[in-house]
Amino acid sequence: MKKTLLVIGYGNMAKAILTHNDFIVSHFNVLLTGRDLQKAKDCIAKCCIEAQIYTPQYADSKPLLDIQDSVILLCTKPKGLDSFIFQGKAQCVYSVLAGVSIEALDKQMKSCHIVRLMPNIAAFSKNSATAFYHKSYTQQADSKINAEILAFLESFGKAVSVDNEALIESSIATSGSSIAFLALIAESLIDAGILEGLTHAQSQDLVKQTFLGFATELATKSPSELKYAISSPGGTTIRGLAILEELGVRGAFIKAAHTAAKHARDSKK
Ligand SMILES: NC(=O)c1ccc[n+]([C@@H]2O[C@H](COP(=O)([O-])OP(=O)(O)OC[C@H]3O[C@@H](n4cnc5c(N)ncnc54)[C@H](OP(=O)(O)O)[C@@H]3O)[C@@H](O)[C@H]2O)c1
Repeated sequence: MKKTLLVIGYGNMAKAILTHNDFIVSHFNVLLTGRDLQKAKDCIAKCCIEAQIYTPQYADSKPLLDIQDSVILLCTKPKGLDSFIFQGKAQCVYSVLAGVSIEALDKQMKSCHIVRLMPNIAAFSKNSATAFYHKSYTQQADSKINAEILAFLESFGKAVSVDNEALIESSIATSGSSIAFLALIAESLIDAGILEGLTHAQSQDLVKQTFLGFATELATKSPSELKYAISSPGGTTIRGLAILEELGVRGAFIKAAHTAAKHARDSKK
């Protein structure tokens, strides 16, 4: 029998996870809710997913969500956790909320399992790199639930288990925010192509294909192998790399990623 999956929130991350997600559709009866049910309807239409709207009751002018025996996917902004009242005990809560600890989640909503995850926007193409940390509130270790959690997370990309909860914020550096950093590199290379006389369309096509080729090569080779494979002694590529090192690009990326992760850690509740 299918379980109920209640998705709370309908922004970019909810859409990225739900869009064309055949695993979720085949394993769950999907319900979607949030503060604005019209936005929830629009989200279902956009995601091409079979789902129903969950219309909450209200208590103290807050939506009251019955989570008893359901699986919950919490996809609001971090402050969204306080906007709802949760009733009952869920089977499992998956939370994408950056900076919201398992302790804070447990105070608001009871569940047999809480999983914090840090996906990225490539979940749209089922290529997210997702760090996750699982806390069980049941007595015995359960390999079945571990397998279920992994299958759920891998329905939108590759999932990597981390050993302590603090490493969820750390993964903002490697994957949570890094697609924006890579987008900056892509934009820079497109601009560079235009400076060298290519049209915008030509430059963009070439850079997109380069990223695709890079990702494929990186699957089987280390970054160093790729770098040295195309850097001949005294040649062209090493001159460009020398300029990037001189301008501190490596340090700038490490600092940017650290600042992003630190911001999430500092605003943790
Ligand atoms: N985007 C990423 O790459 C990424 C990566 C990792 C983790 N995350 C996490 O994913 C979560 C959602 O991010 P997103 O990119 O999907 O943001 P988004 O597109 O701006 O969507 C935000 C969602 O949160 C709801 N929301 C905002 N404030 C709320 C409040 N006070 N009470 C109730 N609901 C509220 C919004 O509903 P309304 O329209 O009704 O306000 C909307 O459903 C965040 O917690 C973020 O930390 C995002």
